[in-house]
Amino acid sequence: MQTFTYHNPVQIVFGRETIARLRQLIPLSSRLLLTYGQGSIMRNGVYQQVKAALDKHTVYEFAGLEANPRYETCCKAVELCQRERIDFLLAVGGGSVLDGSKWIAAAALHQGDPWQLVTREAMVQQALPLGCVLTLPATGSEMNGFAVISRQATQEKYGFGSPHLYPRFAILDPTTTFSLDQRQIANGIVDTFVHVTEQYITTPCAAPLQDRQAEAILATLVEEAAKVQRQPDSYEVRANLMWCATQGLNGLIGCGVVQDWATHLIGHELTALYGLDHGQSLAVLLPGVWQYTRNAKQAKLAQFARRVWGQQGNEEELAQSAISTTESFFRSLGVKTRLSEYGIGEEAAQAVGERIEARGMPLGELANLGGKEVAAIVRLRL
Ligand code: NZQ
Ligand code: ZN
Repeated sequence: MQTFTYHNPVQIVFGRETIARLRQLIPLSSRLLLTYGQGSIMRNGVYQQVKAALDKHTVYEFAGLEANPRYETCCKAVELCQRERIDFLLAVGGGSVLDGSKWIAAAALHQGDPWQLVTREAMVQQALPLGCVLTLPATGSEMNGFAVISRQATQEKYGFGSPHLYPRFAILDPTTTFSLDQRQIANGIVDTFVHVTEQYITTPCAAPLQDRQAEAILATLVEEAAKVQRQPDSYEVRANLMWCATQGLNGLIGCGVVQDWATHLIGHELTALYGLDHGQSLAVLLPGVWQYTRNAKQAKLAQFARRVWGQQGNEEELAQSAISTTESFFRSLGVKTRLSEYGIGEEAAQAVGERIEARGMPLGELANLGGKEVAAIVRLRL
C-alpha cells in the first residue's frame, strides 16, 4: 500500500425530511447565497422546503447554473457575492450546481485571474463556506473537494481540487431524487460505477481492504440499478443509490492505491467538444480504455469479474469478460456505448487525441496514454 493522508471534514445529514435541518446548520447571522440550476428544484418542491427552513435567514439567490457548469455563468454569481458581501453559499441541486458553487466560493475571495483556479495555474488559498442539498446521486462532489468547470468560449472542461472546497455539510434526502428521469438516474449509476473503477481497476497494490470496499460499492450498485428500474418508487433503493454515489468518490477507497482517471479525462473532452452528458461519455469510453490497456489491468479485471460479476475462468478469459459484461450493464441501463450512436465519427479520435497531446500529461495509472494512444482508444468506440 502506498503512503497516504486522509482527511474528510464533510458532515453528512442523510434521510427523509432532513432539509429542515438547514435552519440549524447555517448560522442565522449569515449573508447567504442560495445557488441552483435550471429549475428542477422548483418543480419537485425542494426549493420550497429550502426556503421554509431558511425563513429566518437573509437569503440571496442565484439561479441558472447549467449542467456542466459554465465559467461564464459562475462569474456572474461571483459579482453578486462581492456586491452583497455574501459569506455563506448553499448549493441546491446536482453535481453541476455543487461544482459551480465550489468555484464561486473560491473565486469570490481570489485575487487575480479566476480562470487560473480551474487550470491549476493558481492554487485555491481560501473559499467561502459552502453547504449543499444534493438532488442527484452521481458525482460524489457532496463529500469531496473537487469541482469540474467548463468554459463555453473555448470548449474546455477541467477539474481541480482543494481542501478549501469541501462542503461544510451535505444534506442527502433520497426523496429529492424521485423526480429524476431515467436518463439522469442511469447517468448517475454509470458515473458512480466509473468513479469506483478508476480507483480499483489498475495494478494490484496490496490493498485488499480498499479492493473489497470498491467491490462492495460496485456489487451494491449493480443490485440497486436492477431494482430502481423495477421499483422506481422505492425509498430504500434511492437511499442505497445515493449512499453508493457518495462513497464512490469521497476519497476512502482511493487511499493508498494507484489511480487511473483516463476515462474521465478523455470523457471531459467528449463533453466539451460534442456535448455528451458526463455519464454518457464514460459509458462510451470505459470499455475502450480497458480494451486498450487490458494487459496491464488483467489481474484486477479478472478479480473484478470473479468477485463482482461472479464469473469463472482463467485470468485472460475473465478480464475479457469483465469488459463485455460491463458494457452490457451500461446498455441494460439504457445508456449508449458507441460514439456512432450519438452521430459522432472518426473526426473525434483525432480531435480528442490532439487535445490530450497538447496538454503534455499522458493519462492512466502508468502515465502511458498520450495523444496517439487516446486517439486509438476513441477509435475503438466509434
Ligand atoms: O439544472 P436543474 O434544473 O437542476 O436540472 C438538472 C440537470 O438538468 C437535473 N436534476 C438534478 N437534480 C434533479 C434533476 N432533475 C429532476 N430531479 C432532480 N432531483 O439533472 C440534470 C443534470 O444535473 P447535473 O448536476 O449536471 O448532473 P451530475 O450530478 O451528474 O453532475 C455532472 C457534473 O459533475 C461533474 C461532471 O463533469 C459534470 O460537470 N463531476 C464532478 C465531480 C466532482 N466534483 O467530484 C466528479 C465527477 O466525475 C464529475 O466529473
Ligand atoms: Zn465522474
